[in-house]
Amino acid sequence: MIPFIDLAAQQARIRDRIEAGFGTVLDHGAYVMGPEVAAIEARLAEAAGSRHCVSCSSGTDALILALLAQGLRPGQGVIVPSFTFAASAEVMPVLGAVPVFAEVDPVTFNLDPASLPAAMAAARESGIEPVGIIGVGLFGQPADYAAIGAFAEAEGLWVVDDAAQSFGASLNNMPVGQLADITCTSFFPAKPLGCYGDGGAVFVDDDAKAELMRSCRVHGMGKNKYENIRIGMTARLDTLQAAVLDAKLDIFEDELDRRQTVADHYEALLDGIAVPPRLAAGATSSWAQYTVKLPAGTDRDAVMAALKERGVPSAIYYPVPMHRQPPYQSYPVSGCGMEVTADLCSRVLALPMHPYLDYAQQQQVAAALATALGNSGASGGMQEIA
Ligand SMILES: Cc1ncc(COP(=O)(O)O)c(C=O)c1O
Repeated sequence: MIPFIDLAAQQARIRDRIEAGFGTVLDHGAYVMGPEVAAIEARLAEAAGSRHCVSCSSGTDALILALLAQGLRPGQGVIVPSFTFAASAEVMPVLGAVPVFAEVDPVTFNLDPASLPAAMAAARESGIEPVGIIGVGLFGQPADYAAIGAFAEAEGLWVVDDAAQSFGASLNNMPVGQLADITCTSFFPAKPLGCYGDGGAVFVDDDAKAELMRSCRVHGMGKNKYENIRIGMTARLDTLQAAVLDAKLDIFEDELDRRQTVADHYEALLDGIAVPPRLAAGATSSWAQYTVKLPAGTDRDAVMAALKERGVPSAIYYPVPMHRQPPYQSYPVSGCGMEVTADLCSRVLALPMHPYLDYAQQQQVAAALATALGNSGASGGMQEIA
C-alpha cells in the first residue's frame, strides 16, 4: 500500500537530531516549559513573520486561546465555514458562544467572502451578534484574507486564521501568520509541521494579547502560577514536542518544496481524470492534503474500494457539512443554500500526499483512479465537473 502520509521516511532523515534533542531534555529534566519551548517559539515566530508565538497543547487549544484573547463572550457569534474540520466550529460552543456557518468557494474550498453578508443576516435574525470571523486555510491554502479582512473591517469584526493545515503557506508574499489578527496552527503528527503527539501554536503581533494567552495556557497565571488573575486552562506544549519540532523545522522549507513538486505532478497526471485542487492567484499552499473533486454522481465508496484494491489509500475530508452534524444543527446558517458545501462533501476525495511520494507512486495513484472511475458508473464527463 502506498502510504497516505509517510512519517517514517521523514523520521529516517532526522532521527539522529530528534534523539539528540530528546537526550538533552532527558538530561535537564524540564519536561514542562523547558528551554526548548521558548527556543521553538522564537523560531516559529520568525518563520511566521509574527511578533509573538505562543505555543500550546493542540490546534484546538490554540483556537480557544485566540478566542479568549479576542474577548469572545457567551452568546456572541463567530462566522466560520461549514466545510471544515470540527475544531474550527467547536471552539465557540466550548466558550458558550455561537458558530455562524457560512459558504465556501467551489474552487479553493475556502470561506467565500461573498457569503459573509448572508451569514451576518442569518445570525442577526436569530438574535446573535457576530463579533468575529474564523477563516480556515483548508488543505493548506490560505483563505482570501484580503476580502475577508475588508468585510471584517467594515463591520467591526476581528479575524482569526485557523491555519491548522496551512502553516508554511503564503498569500501575496505574506506568510501565514500575518494574514489575520491572530493565527492558530496545529502540530498534530499528520500536519505539514507535526510533532509526535498533540501540539499547537498561536501567532499574534499584539503584546497584550500574547501576554493574555501566555497567562491563559497556565490557569490564568499572574506573576507566577499560584497567582491566578483570570480563568485559564492547562494548554502548554511539552518540552519533548518542542525538541521534535526543532528538528522538523530544519527541513520544513525543503518539505514544502517537495510537496509543491508532488502537487505539480498530480495536476499533470490527473488531467482529464478528476478536478485537481487549484490555488488562487497569489496563494501558495502547504499541501496538507491533496483533495480532488470526482465527477458528479460518482459512487465514491466504490472508487475508494477500487483504489484500495490497487494499493492506493484515500480519505474523505469532509463527508458531512458542520452545520448538518447533530450538535451544530441549531446554529445560524447563511441563507445562501450552502449548495457548494453540500456538493463538496459529496464529491471530494483526498489522495496520498507527503513530501516523499515519488513519481512512480503518483503514476500508480493516477492510473488506479482512472480505472476506478471508469468502473464507477460516473454520470458525467470532465466538461461537466470542472
Ligand atoms: C482546520 C483544523 N482546525 C483545527 C484543528 C485542530 O487541531 P488539533 O487536532 O491539533 O486540536 C485541525 C486538526 O485536525 C484542523 O484540521
